[in-house]
Amino acid sequence: MPRRSKPGHATKTSAPILPSRLEPSQILFVCLGNICRSPAAEGLFRALEPSVDCDSAGTASYHVGEPPYGAMRQALKRRDVDVSDLRARQFSAADFSGFGLILAMDLDNLAAIEAQRPRGNQVPVHLFTDFAPQTGVDHVPDPYYTRDFDGCLDLLEQAAAGLKQALAPRHS
Ligand code: 4NP
Repeated sequence: MPRRSKPGHATKTSAPILPSRLEPSQILFVCLGNICRSPAAEGLFRALEPSVDCDSAGTASYHVGEPPYGAMRQALKRRDVDVSDLRARQFSAADFSGFGLILAMDLDNLAAIEAQRPRGNQVPVHLFTDFAPQTGVDHVPDPYYTRDFDGCLDLLEQAAAGLKQALAPRHS
């Protein structure tokens, strides 16, 4: 029997293997509400790698049209990252046509994304934490519940750095 672990509680140490034909000039970051983790990931990564067109979305519709959560905006501002221009939107199957890479913040998001994959579509969907194997975690804990906004950003920064490194050969 394969070992099964509760979503969000397994550890993961292997580095992701990106398909060689992957050229993600457009990357979508996805969480649940699109007001904490994914807009933060978008803001951090667009600051780190301006040549990539970034966007973010939530699998739920609760906060559509809202700016990123205030406490997250403030935590980002302390790191000189401004996300005040972003507005929440809901992930849809059409996003499989608009992006070369989709990155989920946790396993529930990943499952919700995959449930909408159009037949025959092959856009890679990964956990964002796949790009930070050194952390040993397989999800980005949700600061909306944990209230640990700085810890969330520390993890997102590591994943963003790993993603930039993984894309570097394709952008040189
Ligand atoms: P996010 O956090 O998925 O990182 O944006 C959440 C924000 C709001 C809710 C859930 C998660 N909510 O249930 O309202």
